[in-house]
Amino acid sequence: MTVAETGPLTTEAGAPVADNQNSEQAGIGGPVLIQDQSLIEKLAHFNRERIPERIVHARGAGAYGTFTVTADVTRYTRAKFLSEVGKETEVFLRFSTVAGNLGAADAVRDPRGFALKFYTEEGNYDLVGNNTPVFFIRDAIKFPDFIHTQKRDPYTGSQEADNVWDFWSLSPEVTHQVTWLFGDRGIPASYRHMDGFGSHTFQWNNEAGEAFWVKYHFKTDQGIKNLTQAEADKLAGEDPDSHQRDLREAIERGEYPSWTVSVQIMPAADAATYRFNPFDLTKVWPHADHPLIEIGKLELNRNPENIFAEVEQSIFSPAHFVPGIGPSPDKMLQGRLFAYGDAHRYRVGINADHLPVNRPHAAEARTYSRDGLLYDGRHGRAKNYEPNSFGGPSQTGRPLWQPVAVTGVTGEHVSPVHAEDNDFVQAGNLYRLMTEAEKSRLIDNLAGSLAKVSRDDIVARAIDNFRQADPDYGKRLEAAVQALRG
Ligand code: HEM
Repeated sequence: MTVAETGPLTTEAGAPVADNQNSEQAGIGGPVLIQDQSLIEKLAHFNRERIPERIVHARGAGAYGTFTVTADVTRYTRAKFLSEVGKETEVFLRFSTVAGNLGAADAVRDPRGFALKFYTEEGNYDLVGNNTPVFFIRDAIKFPDFIHTQKRDPYTGSQEADNVWDFWSLSPEVTHQVTWLFGDRGIPASYRHMDGFGSHTFQWNNEAGEAFWVKYHFKTDQGIKNLTQAEADKLAGEDPDSHQRDLREAIERGEYPSWTVSVQIMPAADAATYRFNPFDLTKVWPHADHPLIEIGKLELNRNPENIFAEVEQSIFSPAHFVPGIGPSPDKMLQGRLFAYGDAHRYRVGINADHLPVNRPHAAEARTYSRDGLLYDGRHGRAKNYEPNSFGGPSQTGRPLWQPVAVTGVTGEHVSPVHAEDNDFVQAGNLYRLMTEAEKSRLIDNLAGSLAKVSRDDIVARAIDNFRQADPDYGKRLEAAVQALRG
């Protein structure tokens, strides 16, 4: 192409650039001149190309798609995007790993993030879940400590098995999630071949004001496919971008990945007497108690054009609700309601919500917030205070979710323990559900990791937690670790 066809290369201010190969010098072979603003602008912009990576889930890939309602759920929620069978809503989904930094390999043993933004006509609804129905801990106050053990050690600069297992062995509530993570589903073969979960319990409420507790499940229509530890180790070395590439190429081929979406529903009044604490993120609701109700189909069918603009700068917040959907008293979720918006303000800036990937697509944001770094002036001369007499937007008077009854005194309380609750019961149930071959791969994977720990007391404490889940589990793990450690 010639300059006549494309227009000239320009500076950021739009002036034509004469030479993009040679900087301006004081004479042939002389020093470079500060008046070469094209050079200075180019170097300065380059130095500022990075924003802080996400403190967790730094490594990820995203795609746009469609959510389609397939069942009538209006008796449970008044959310408009769920109001009619056949109704379609645009979505953006970002998959991720948790512990690795931005350049880390995809094929690792780690939970996968499943962060879904619904661009609904009542504003954006974000469901920021994982590929696992449970999590390691049940109180947000433990999250920074937990993540520090998964990330690089301050002295060695590497991930350390000592730190991982020290924390896990001292936090017995992790036993369920760790059993899940070291089992077959711990390393998905791709982002397309895994399920997604909202993980927490959320509130749905209907037009009549009745409240329900709900859990979301996304079952992959591609079928579950996993990697063994050996397959993953090889792939991570050969193609660190394996999962990101797989997702993009599948969509380019027109093989649009899809998930069948279901919910479990609990009438609000049943929560207090349920056999497990329904707001404890280390527990599932067994399907026998609350069967899956199919409600929709999720399909991904469009790749982002620009990874930085649409994936790196995308923001998802568990606090982004729409009318008819709200939080539960899950202590982890409550902490997350604060953490994400705070992270976005630091990582992307106070006007992050204005970026094309983040702003509402089927609604308009009408706020009185103004200005700040990179404000684009979208509100023009409109009044920036409320109430006002100039026709500005005003409150609806109806909260997005129903009030929740609380009792007692303030305090640093542990989570309520229900009739069948303890830290090990569901880990033991999961272990006993496994086939013999699954059990032995689980034991091998755990033993391989535990054998790297340098201190016997940490190893013994960790094994004791698995023993409490099931005596056979503990016994086999102890023998396998001993065989590796000699
Ligand atoms: C209290 C516990 C937790 C805290 C404080 C926390 C905090 C954070 C923070 C600060 C980020 C980075 C956000 C950003 O920079 O945009 C993040 C990302 C993420 N977290 Fe959490 N997190 C917690 C638990 C969880 C749980 C339980 C799940 C899933 C069930 C989860 C799923 C995710 C996902 C999927 C992302 C990536 C979102 C994206 O793709 O942009 N987190 N978390």
